[in-house]
Amino acid sequence: MKDIEKLQDGQKGIVFKVTADDGTQKVIKLQQENPSRAVVGTALLMQAGVNTAAILPVKDEKLGQLQQDVQAYLDANEGSDVDLSAAQQLTQALAAVSNPAASPPFGNVVEMDFVRGRDLQKAVQEPDFKQLLTNPSFQRQLGQIMAADAFTGNPDRFAARADTGANPGDSVKGWYNQNNLIIEGRGDDVQLKAIDNDFRPGANVDSENVFGGAAHGGQWGSVAAANSQQFKREVFAVIERLETEANVRLSPQEIKDFITQATEGAQETMDTLLAADITPERVDQMLDVAGEAGRSKRECVQNFSKHVQMIQLLRDDLQKSLAVKPTVAEMAGIASAKGPLTMEKVLEGLGVSKEDAAEIAQSREKLDRFNKLMQGEKGAHVPKDFKITTREAAAMAKDESTYKQFTQKVGGPKV
Ligand SMILES: Nc1ncnc2c1ncn2[C@@H]1O[C@H](COP(=O)(O)OP(=O)(O)O)[C@@H](O)[C@H]1O
Ligand SMILES: [Mg+2]
Repeated sequence: MKDIEKLQDGQKGIVFKVTADDGTQKVIKLQQENPSRAVVGTALLMQAGVNTAAILPVKDEKLGQLQQDVQAYLDANEGSDVDLSAAQQLTQALAAVSNPAASPPFGNVVEMDFVRGRDLQKAVQEPDFKQLLTNPSFQRQLGQIMAADAFTGNPDRFAARADTGANPGDSVKGWYNQNNLIIEGRGDDVQLKAIDNDFRPGANVDSENVFGGAAHGGQWGSVAAANSQQFKREVFAVIERLETEANVRLSPQEIKDFITQATEGAQETMDTLLAADITPERVDQMLDVAGEAGRSKRECVQNFSKHVQMIQLLRDDLQKSLAVKPTVAEMAGIASAKGPLTMEKVLEGLGVSKEDAAEIAQSREKLDRFNKLMQGEKGAHVPKDFKITTREAAAMAKDESTYKQFTQKVGGPKV
């Protein structure tokens, strides 16, 4: 070993960076939690094509070997002016791993590839943060990571969170963990890397609220990335959050481009993951190998099964909406209808059932507002050529807060 450095200390875990004699750099993390979910989450992110750090539990002989290596490093540098405090702390922490009474009780060790770059906490303070935010490659990769996190139910990176107050679902707010995304490089070479991955599927299997949330000390992830309409709302909320944190403003066009790129990236990753046929049985096996067992494993597999159904449902919904188009024959049928064309008649001509037609007629009032929105009644921050489709308008009409997001942004743009 050439060097041992401490990256983070605290009640949640201790993180060290270790440089081997050949120069390779690894991260050693001691933590309370069983790392099995991080291992499975990371494997699925890799399957999704997301850039992330390989992670391995360090146990048994591997743990013994690591202890010996650290001791050898300490012995070799004894009496020199090398600062050995990190190495000493690592030795003590490793010795306490198998002691159940140790405080803090860090009974698990993992080894990860060291990820080079800056996290969002640093990036938002940089003068060229706006360049990063408006970089299509950043935007696309962000969408990809958000989709992979939606698939794995990771609650700890990016999400729009539904308001858990008096009116759940009434508004969504952007949220992110500034330390769990590492950014390497700039411009076309920018690379986003996911660290601190998790696998917490099934906390959100309610189609009424696809967003993430936090309450009573816990937090849950978002599945919005499965559906492009919902994901647009999520990205919009995240952009607003980033703008606030960094004190920068994107122009309406820049916001639109960001949403487009991120949504395309997310769709691509969702497709990859859904095509990979990751079954509950497979997840069961992965958890097994990673060291999750018993009831906790059973529940996780059951939750994943519901979770993935939810994702497919959101996805199917989207496919359906793309498929809805009147055929030539249907159009001819509508045209030949006698008498004034009521909305009900048009819908009937399109083969919509009476009940559905009645429901649509009822939501007419909401749709009217969106017709106005489509005709230009937009907030100052929305680009003039920002067109939404009828389908999008209908989806948005269901939700007051989205309408407000597009119409009531205070202050207007500062570009
Ligand atoms: N693989 C890694 N490469 C580089 N830095 C890392 C890596 N893992 C962790 N870190 C650093 O240590 C910090 C804490 O690690 P993390 O796994 O996020 O733990 P926590 O559960 O405490 O959030 C990270 O925010 C990052 O700065
Ligand atoms: Mg973290």
